[in-house]
Amino acid sequence: MTYSPTATTAWKTLQHQAESANAERITEFFTENPNRTHEMSVECGQLHLDFSKNLVSDKTWQALLALADQSPLDSFRAAMFSGETINTTENRAVLHAALRAEIGDQKVAAAEEESDQRVRLVKQQLSQVKLVSEKIRNGDWVGSTGKAITDVINIGIGGSDLGPKLACSALQEFAHPNINLHFISNVDGAEILSTLKKLDPETTLVALASKTFTTQETLLNAKTTLNWFAKELGLNDAQTSSHFVGLTASRENALAYGIPNEQILEFAEWVGGRYSLWSSIGLSIAISIGYDQFEEMLAGAREVDIHFQSAPAEKNMPVIMALLGIWYNNFLNAQTNAVIPYCERLLLLPSYLQQLDMESNGKSTTLDGQQVDYDTGAILWGQTGTNGQHAFFQLLHQGTRLAPVDFIALAVDKMSNEEHHRVLLGNMLAQSSALMCGQEAPAGEQHRYYPGNKPSNVLLLKELSPKNFGSLIALYEHKVFVQGCIWNINSFDQWGVELGKKMANHLLAENSAQTADLDVSTKALFAYIESCQ
Ligand code: F6P
Repeated sequence: MTYSPTATTAWKTLQHQAESANAERITEFFTENPNRTHEMSVECGQLHLDFSKNLVSDKTWQALLALADQSPLDSFRAAMFSGETINTTENRAVLHAALRAEIGDQKVAAAEEESDQRVRLVKQQLSQVKLVSEKIRNGDWVGSTGKAITDVINIGIGGSDLGPKLACSALQEFAHPNINLHFISNVDGAEILSTLKKLDPETTLVALASKTFTTQETLLNAKTTLNWFAKELGLNDAQTSSHFVGLTASRENALAYGIPNEQILEFAEWVGGRYSLWSSIGLSIAISIGYDQFEEMLAGAREVDIHFQSAPAEKNMPVIMALLGIWYNNFLNAQTNAVIPYCERLLLLPSYLQQLDMESNGKSTTLDGQQVDYDTGAILWGQTGTNGQHAFFQLLHQGTRLAPVDFIALAVDKMSNEEHHRVLLGNMLAQSSALMCGQEAPAGEQHRYYPGNKPSNVLLLKELSPKNFGSLIALYEHKVFVQGCIWNINSFDQWGVELGKKMANHLLAENSAQTADLDVSTKALFAYIESCQ
C-alpha cells in the first residue's frame, strides 16, 4: 500500500492538536507533569538530551510517536542497515554505518554474511588510512626532495571537505603538534593562492578528496597546486609523486588523473559524499588526531548506530529529535532549525549539518515520484554561542518567527578552565530557560516584554572526545534519515545541485555575453562583468 504521512491518523491528530498548541505554555507542562524533565531526557553513550523545553504536551508527544509508528521507519531502517538499494534514484545501497560496524553487528540473518564481508572490506580499506596517516605522522612519508611532510592540504568540497574540516577543528585538542592541516574547497582562487604562499612545497602533501574525481572546483584547485609544484620545485606532474594522495570511490578516475595506485585510498560507492568522513575521506582526520583516535570516532558513531536500531522510539535520540523537528516544521509552521553549539571548536558544525540535512531532505518528490503536498527539510542555520547571543538572539527572544533551537554544549571541557566554562554553560542554560520562560514587561515598557514559550533542545556531551564527536555526528545523520522516512522522500540523492552545475559549465563554455544563450538578467550581468575587465 502506498504510504503518505498526511494520510495517517497520527498526522490528522497532530493537525488537530496544532490548532491549540500556541495557546499552551511549555512552563505549564512542567506543572502538569512534575516528572516531565525525567521523562523527556534520554542518554546515548556520553550524550545527554533534555527535550523537555519543547512546545510538546504529553498528548502531542504520544501522537508524534504514533506518527513514527505509522511510518515505514522500521522497515526502511532495517533495509538501510542490511544493505538494500534504498537510494533508488541512484540505484545504490546506503551503508555509511558499515564504515563503523564490526563483524556480527548485522542481526538480520539473511544479510549477515554480506554484512560481515563488507566489514572486512572496510577494515582493509581503512588499514590504508592507518598506514598512510602513521607514515605521515612519524615523518616516514617524504616529499620529492626527501623531507618529511609538515603540511597537508585537503582539496575537496561538500562531503569531501566539511566533515574532515569540522572533525579537525572539533578535535584540535588531539592534533599532531607538527603537522598542519589546510582545507581548500572554494574555487575562489584567493583561497588556494594565499594558502600556497604560506607553504613550503618540499614538505607539502595534497590529499585530493573527491568521491567521483570529477568535481570542477576540486580539479581546478588541484591544477593550481600542480602548477605550484612545477614552478617552485621544477616538479612536473606532481600528481604522480609522493606529494599527492587520492581519496576516492573511483580508483579508475584517480589512476587516469595520474595518482599512483598505492597512493589511492579507496572507499565504496555505497558511501554517500555527505556521509564519507568515516571513510578514507577522513585521512586528514587520522593524520591530525592519529588513527587510534580516528577509530574512537568510529566507535562513538557505532554506539549511536546500535542505539538507533535497538532503543524504543520514546527513548531513541535520533527518532526523538526527528519527531520534534517534524512537529515544528509541518504543524507549527516553523521554517528553520537553529543549531547553536556553546563550544568554539564546534563552530563549523552548523555548516556541516547544512549539507547533511539540507542536501538530504531538501526534496519535493516522494519515493513514488509524486509531488509532496507538505513541507520537507527545514532551513538549518546557526553559529556558536555566546557569539550568537550578541548577534541574532534578539530575534529568537522577541521576533515574530518560531525558530526552534538545538543548544549543544560540553559538560566538561579540559581545554578551557573552570571560570570560562562556568560562564559559557551558565549562558547556555540561561538562554534556553529565558526562551521558554519569557518575562512580563514593566508597565508602559512593552519593548521589554519577552513572550517566552520558545522551544529548545539541550544536548550535552560529557566531553569533546573523538568518541563523543563520532556519536554527535551519527546522531544527526540518523535524525535526518528518520525525517526522510516519515516524509517519504529519498534522503540520499542530490539531483537538485545538477542544474546549476550544468548551467555554470554552459556559461563558462561561452566566451562572451554576446553569444551566450542565457536569460536576459544573467546576460546583462555577464556583460557588466566583461565591461569591468
Ligand atoms: O554537488 C554536490 C556533491 O555531489 C556533494 O554531494 C558532494 O559531497 C560534493 O558534490 C563533492 O563531490 P565529490 O566528492 O565527488 O567531489
